[in-house]
Amino acid sequence: MSTASRAKITAVGTYVPPRVLTNADLEKMVDTTDAWIMERVGIRERHLVETGVGASDLAVEAVKSLLASHPFDLQEVDLIVVGTVTPDMMYPSTACLVQHKLGIKNTWGFDVSAGCSGFLYALNAGVKFVESGKYKKVLVIGSDVNSSMTDYTDRAVCIIFGDGAGAVLLEPATSDGEGIIDHVAQIEGMGGEFLCMPGGGSLNPASHQTVDQKMHYIHQDGRNVFKYAVKKMAEMTERILKRNKLTGHDVDCFIAHQANRRIITATADRLGLPLEKVIINIDRYGNTTAGTIPLAMRTALDEGKLKEGNLVLIAAVGAGFTSGATLLRWAF
Ligand code: COA
Repeated sequence: MSTASRAKITAVGTYVPPRVLTNADLEKMVDTTDAWIMERVGIRERHLVETGVGASDLAVEAVKSLLASHPFDLQEVDLIVVGTVTPDMMYPSTACLVQHKLGIKNTWGFDVSAGCSGFLYALNAGVKFVESGKYKKVLVIGSDVNSSMTDYTDRAVCIIFGDGAGAVLLEPATSDGEGIIDHVAQIEGMGGEFLCMPGGGSLNPASHQTVDQKMHYIHQDGRNVFKYAVKKMAEMTERILKRNKLTGHDVDCFIAHQANRRIITATADRLGLPLEKVIINIDRYGNTTAGTIPLAMRTALDEGKLKEGNLVLIAAVGAGFTSGATLLRWAF
């Protein structure tokens, strides 16, 4: 593809709610320890919403944070794509709620459901619209309120998840070589049973029975998800590098979905990436599902690890199973 039709990320905004749930708090709620969580997962604390706050509220705050760092007229937004698996409600879409709350008049949008790959899939969808040449400003948002479907008596799940959101602005690339270079993605539905929320959809609509059977909570076979994630993140990152005739040594910054510190470092090891090129903030936020990648971009910028001209590798694996990787040349 000619550079002229590429898309690039021109702004990043993030938001996490103020309430913090620490490992010490969890030690009082379930049979766990700070040492176990830090060693097996790498999380110290996560942020949770107060009752009455939905994914659209976090998304709106993330867009406001983006605007604060990169002011522009929101009325110019052509498209809003939201990755989420915890929408405020089944419908209308989170994109509609965000559009209304921000008062953007002449736009359209939709939600993407891809679990922890939600932001990456939303990003890749948005990129295609910019590459078409007809879209000049696309807002891509990842927002999840995982606390809304977490059973805080299930120690294997409640330690992992947090709430948070991030937003990026996509615009046409203007210089040679910059912007989104390539992406790969794959879904493997055989993995659905290992990570899902079985209740509340058309198959098992809400009833006393679904509530009694805890079907509105995250059901996770952590061991199987972990094994798949380690294998698949390596496979997707190696695939995208190989097809662009690159190796891990060419990568300046690796931004992975933050599900478990060990999944991220295993992938980095496989690619031969030193830790200073790997963005890790799971200790502060936990797994915020579609929020992790923009939150990690913000961390990378704040820590000076993401600079103009850097080759950036992004990767995610999530419920579905879904997986993907994106390669881009950062130009802010
Ligand atoms: N505190 C203490 N012990 C815990 C625990 C906790 N919070 N959660 C589970 N355990 C126990 C288990 O009960 C088990 O005990 P047992 O051996 O007596 O049966 C033991 O720890 C080991 O369990 P296992 O499931 O093998 O642990 P693990 O090292 O795989 O870690 C996860 C569990 C969930 C943290 C890990 O599997 C994981 O991160 N999976 C991927 C989850 C994920 O990424 N989800 C989102 C997808 S994008």
